[in-house]
Amino acid sequence: MSNSEQDSQLIVVSNRVPNPDGGSGNQGGLAVGVMTALQQADGLWLGWNGSIDDDEHARLEHYDFDGVRFATFPLTENDHKTYYTGFSNEMLWPLFHYRPDKVEYSRENLEGYLRVNQRFADHLMPLIKDNTRVWVHDYHLVPLGHYLRETGADAPLGYFLHIPFPPWDVLRILPDYENLLRYLSAYDLIGLQSDVDLKNFKDCMTMALDAVEHDDGMLEVDGRRFRAESYPISIDVQAAQEMAQAGVTSSAGKRLQRSLGDRPLVMGVDRLDYSKGVYKRFQAFERLLEKQEHQRGNVVFIQISPPSRTDVHEYAQLRTTLERVAGHVNGRFADYDWTPLRYLNRGYSREAIMGFLRMSRVGFLTPLRDGMNLVAKEFVAAQDPEDPGVLIISHLAGASWELGKGALVCNPYDIDGVADMLEQALTMSLDERKTRWRTMMDVLENNDIHHWSQNFLDELMDVRLNRSAT
Ligand code: G6P
Repeated sequence: MSNSEQDSQLIVVSNRVPNPDGGSGNQGGLAVGVMTALQQADGLWLGWNGSIDDDEHARLEHYDFDGVRFATFPLTENDHKTYYTGFSNEMLWPLFHYRPDKVEYSRENLEGYLRVNQRFADHLMPLIKDNTRVWVHDYHLVPLGHYLRETGADAPLGYFLHIPFPPWDVLRILPDYENLLRYLSAYDLIGLQSDVDLKNFKDCMTMALDAVEHDDGMLEVDGRRFRAESYPISIDVQAAQEMAQAGVTSSAGKRLQRSLGDRPLVMGVDRLDYSKGVYKRFQAFERLLEKQEHQRGNVVFIQISPPSRTDVHEYAQLRTTLERVAGHVNGRFADYDWTPLRYLNRGYSREAIMGFLRMSRVGFLTPLRDGMNLVAKEFVAAQDPEDPGVLIISHLAGASWELGKGALVCNPYDIDGVADMLEQALTMSLDERKTRWRTMMDVLENNDIHHWSQNFLDELMDVRLNRSAT
């Protein structure tokens, strides 16, 4: 940690903050990743408290949780509808996941999005001191940096996007998309998950705003200089290992083991979201059972998908579709002593999930598009080094760039290809499993969550120092 960092206070801002009641496992990668960074700094986390309250002037509520100070506030029903459900999750989420077919746009939602970002800025400004660094997270809060600057904030402002950044010709579907890019140029450092996202981001900046890239790598738009880099997010490897070991011997772990007997377990864990590719995953599993008779009565596939964003029509529809397909697969292949597909539409404790991952022969993660997919990394960390499972990861997930040398990398649209890969994973020799797992573990040990946050925050200070010097 550099001297300037030691004296400075870190404020993290995101839409959602970890739930102090904990446990449901439905908080996505963001909560898991950022908490560690804050615990090491004199950190404060500002965000929505998850509740709806019609008082739009509600004050911040301050509390401590797990070694971090929190400041949260409620959203009004209209804010929730326009900013969170409407613009963030019906517009930006599908657009940034390359799904224009699912995009819903309205000016009312955009106005709500901007209004709530302004409210975040109003809450944040009084908390910013001379030595504060601010780190903003994810697609809900793109304009926040711009509003902070407008109100006079001169603090180092970092922004990390946890989801993919789309190509220019996709981004253009959003009316007024140039403004979204301008808002991003208010930050000093913009972090993206992968080099592909970084390339898309720079293309957009150049095509839409005539950004200039200087020899030192800094980008310039309308006289403002900033830097963009890729920082693939990671996990706390040691904590994941310990939790996985505890999970196996927990009562949930033991119950699962009893129900499996000697049968190999294939495991998927994702929020119930169309970007995760669970529908095609079910089809690939069905194809495996069609093609490989010896797997009938043998392999068990558990898909855990806690409900998510239930106010969005697409998500409600997906739930019905998956229930139908799961029923179809079981109706077609189940026997009186074997259910091939266990589709669990609820969350479990992190400990139970990590234990389940350790007990799996195959981690089956096939998103149609994903910024990173931290479950893939958790699966790797969770394994028993003496008998590790095999990771199947989509080539459209950020995690495939780092884990691709050890994982089996699939195209999730190729149902036959994925089914064949499942068979390859289920029949892989112990030696090959160990070699592949070691390759992936090396990657994780070299870039765990501590490296990730440290790299980002170090770079934020550097960019800031450079900017002050020019
Ligand atoms: C993804 C996003 C996070 C988000 C999480 C859960 O991981 O990148 O920002 O918090 O999904 O989604 P939700 O809408 O429930 O916050």
